Amino acid sequence: MASLLSVNVGMPEDVAWRGRTVHTGIFKSPVSGSVMVRKLNIDGDGQGDLDGHGGEQRAVLVYQIDSIRFWQHYFGHAGVEFGQFGENFTVDGLSDQDVCIGDRYRIGEAEFEPMVTFGRSGLSTRWQIDTGSLLELAEACDVPTRWSCRTGVCHTRITPLLAGATTYLPDPLEAPDNGRVLICCARPDSDIVLDL
Ligand code: FES
Repeated sequence: MASLLSVNVGMPEDVAWRGRTVHTGIFKSPVSGSVMVRKLNIDGDGQGDLDGHGGEQRAVLVYQIDSIRFWQHYFGHAGVEFGQFGENFTVDGLSDQDVCIGDRYRIGEAEFEPMVTFGRSGLSTRWQIDTGSLLELAEACDVPTRWSCRTGVCHTRITPLLAGATTYLPDPLEAPDNGRVLICCARPDSDIVLDL
């Protein structure tokens, strides 16, 4: 079981580097108590180079304590300072071998959930654990769709899945081929794009 060792934040600042000024958000310091994670940032945090960092898909940077220890040993430094690699979350666990794109994590009251894009409707929204099925999410967003049994039996609404992965809950009577999904009983397993 992985654990969160420290939450670190810091706003970008200008630093002199090799004769020029660099705008960087690398400097992070631990915060005590709870802190709000929002769509683009943790409160009190920011990214400097927005081409390479930040945005909805990279709002929080996570780094493992084992990696910090590796670099300390490599460079012969002593001690651990949380946030010294610019990470927002210093964690124990979550190795590169264990973490996959599309994984979801709950930390405190924050749930890091996948984005669902309804491609034809030009609408993106976050799926949350209490959202229910993708059909229910589409209805909540006024995305036009059709349905009948809503239990995975009638195959009324087989929808092309343009990107990402889904999982069924409950399992339909018969799942459609790869690349298509029964939205009445499916949930996102990653950021997804539906042809709706
Ligand atoms: S509405 Fe019947 S299978 Fe989805």
